[in-house]
Amino acid sequence: MNKFARTVVGAASVVVLTAALGACGGDDDGDGGGSDSKTIALLLPETKTTRYEAFDKPLFEAKVKELCDDCDVKYLNADQDSAKQQQQAESAITDGAAVLVFDPVDGDAAAGAVKSAQSSKVPVVAYDRFMEGADYYLSFDNEKVGELQGQALVEATGGSGDILMLNGSPTDPNAAQFKKGAHKAIDASGLTVAAEYDNPDWSPDNAQKFVTSQLNNVDGAALAGVYAANDGQAGGVIAALRADGMTKFPPVTGQDAELAAIQRIVSGDQYMTIYKSIKTEAEKAAEVAVAIVNGDDVGETTDYEGVDSFIFDPAVVTKDNIKDTVVADGFYTVEDICTPEYADACKAAGLS
Ligand code: GAL
Repeated sequence: MNKFARTVVGAASVVVLTAALGACGGDDDGDGGGSDSKTIALLLPETKTTRYEAFDKPLFEAKVKELCDDCDVKYLNADQDSAKQQQQAESAITDGAAVLVFDPVDGDAAAGAVKSAQSSKVPVVAYDRFMEGADYYLSFDNEKVGELQGQALVEATGGSGDILMLNGSPTDPNAAQFKKGAHKAIDASGLTVAAEYDNPDWSPDNAQKFVTSQLNNVDGAALAGVYAANDGQAGGVIAALRADGMTKFPPVTGQDAELAAIQRIVSGDQYMTIYKSIKTEAEKAAEVAVAIVNGDDVGETTDYEGVDSFIFDPAVVTKDNIKDTVVADGFYTVEDICTPEYADACKAAGLS
């Protein structure tokens, strides 16, 4: 169902619409929408994780273009700065965006922007990260992501020994869910969390610094494994271990199926990642946004915390199933992965 259908007629709605016009002053056509425009604002949180600019943005833009000739996308990236993102949201509303597709740096802080958008009759689609009061929400089963990562680490380590845990940003609502799911599996095993870190900006740099500092207290060679909540951090973890003189690494987890991570999995440096079909997520978000601006039905939704939602399934990727997951899904070609540096490892992994 689309809660924002623009086909409302009749005396009652005229009264409501007149009130709305008085409230926001930008509704020239009296249709109750925030503006006549078909501008879709896409607000993404950061650039250090490769998914946003390499996949989310282009896939979203391409789908909007395919579905709607007269729509345009205004892309805004917050560079992990929540205050900057609030301003981006405010200016998108003032500039007449018809809908916000919003992946918040800080889920709680963004609740204010949601209210402000809605008071200007601009619907908000929470993209990948939940925001209270959003009109729609799209994401993966994020607790399951953490559980799959934790289970994989338990299996790969044999379930005993010391590990380090690197979680995502505390302002990112997904990070808490990944952490919860991962702890479920890890705490039920014989693994001991020697030290745990909530990385404030998800950055590889901070992950590397954390592990480097831990290596003053912990013998890297004695580590049973490392839980890294995403691939960017996994890269930082492995860089720190390498700088400490290690050439073989204990199992390290990840998420996002970044190309560099898939290559590290092929070469044996990283144990696993989580593949989330960003194409499915970005294209569905584009469909929802276009349906909203056109007053069409968004299709069947499920309820998540009181918000009409679309929740997708994550998948584990290890060396054994790269072909059946990211390659089969067209996320990467074998050529993307198997650059000359990885040719031998690819052959050994049955990938060439
Ligand atoms: C999460 C997102 C992950 C990862 C991370 C870092 O919210 O679900 O895919 O990108 O943020 O930005």
